[in-house]
Amino acid sequence: MIIVCNNEGTKGIPVTARMLSEGARGLDAIEAGIRVVEDDPDVRTVGTGGWPNLLGAVELDASVMCGSTLRTGAVGALKGFTHPVSIARQVMARLPHEFLVGEGAARFAREIGAETGDLLRPHSRESWQKWFDARVKAEHQKSWADAPLIDYCQEAVDPEIGKDTTVFLCMDSHHDISSATSTSGWGWKYPGRLGDSPVIGAGSYADTRYGACACTGAGEMTIRAGTARAVVLYMKMGMSVQQAVEEAVNDMRALKGGLISRVTIHAIDNRGNHHVVAVNGTPENYYWFWVPAMARPETRPATVIQISDDTPKPRSVDSFKA
Ligand code: GLY
Repeated sequence: MIIVCNNEGTKGIPVTARMLSEGARGLDAIEAGIRVVEDDPDVRTVGTGGWPNLLGAVELDASVMCGSTLRTGAVGALKGFTHPVSIARQVMARLPHEFLVGEGAARFAREIGAETGDLLRPHSRESWQKWFDARVKAEHQKSWADAPLIDYCQEAVDPEIGKDTTVFLCMDSHHDISSATSTSGWGWKYPGRLGDSPVIGAGSYADTRYGACACTGAGEMTIRAGTARAVVLYMKMGMSVQQAVEEAVNDMRALKGGLISRVTIHAIDNRGNHHVVAVNGTPENYYWFWVPAMARPETRPATVIQISDDTPKPRSVDSFKA
C-alpha cells in the first residue's frame, strides 16, 4: 500500500491512511481524504473557501479514476456544491459517461442529492472585491456580468504559489491503484475555464498494471503535454517512475508560448515506488507520503527542476488579499 498526495492534502491524508490500514478500497479512501480538504475553508484553492473566477463565482473541478477498470468520473465548472469529488465519483458509478460540466453537472448533482453550500467565503469575497474595485474600469463595473473579460483574464493568477488543488494517488491492499483530484482552479479565471484537474490524462491518470500520476499547478501546461497519461505510458514502456516523470518534464520543455509557469507532477508505480517533481518550483515544494510501515504520513521535499530560465513569474494577488 502507498499514498502520495500534494501539500494541500495535509488534513485529508490521515483519514485516507487510516481507512487503507483498516482495509478500505483505495477509491473510497482517497475520496474521503479529499472531502476533508474540500471542507477546509483555509485551503484557498479547493472546495469551500476556494478562489472565485473573474465574475466572483467559485467554480469547482474534480475527477476520480479507477486504475483497475480504467473507468473515470469528472465534473467541471460546477457551482454551489461542496464535494465535487463525490459527484465525480457518482458520474463514474451511475452514468455511462465520464465527464459532465456546467449546468449538466449541476443538474446531475441535484438529481443525486449532493450537498450544497456557499463556496465563496468572506476572505475570498473580500479579496475579489478589493481586486474588482482596484482593477475593473468604472464603465465595466456597472454591468460587470456582461462586460468584456478577455483583457481582464490576463489577471488570472496562481493566488498562492505552491499551494493549489489537491491530488491523491494510492495503491490499496488489493494492489488496486486509483487517483482523485479537486480544485477551484486559478483565481480570477475566465468563467468556464477548466484546468487539468478534471481532464483525465492531463491532471490525473491511473492504471493498476503500471501506476498513477496526478498534477498540480498550471493545468494549461499539463493539458498541452498530456502529462499524467504520458507518465503512466512511459512506465508501461519500461521506464522507472523517476525516468517516466523526467520524460514528462522533457515533454514540457517543448511547450512554447502560452502560459509557462509551475507544475508539480506526482507519480507512483505498481511496486510502491514514487517520485514527485516540482517543475519551476522552489525548494519549499513538498508532498505527503504514507506506507504502512509509517506511524503517520510524512512530508517529503519535491525534486525541483527548472525548465526555462526566462519563465515568467506567476502574477500575485497578495496585494488584494483581505
Ligand atoms: N491544476 C489546477 C488547475 O490548473 O486548475
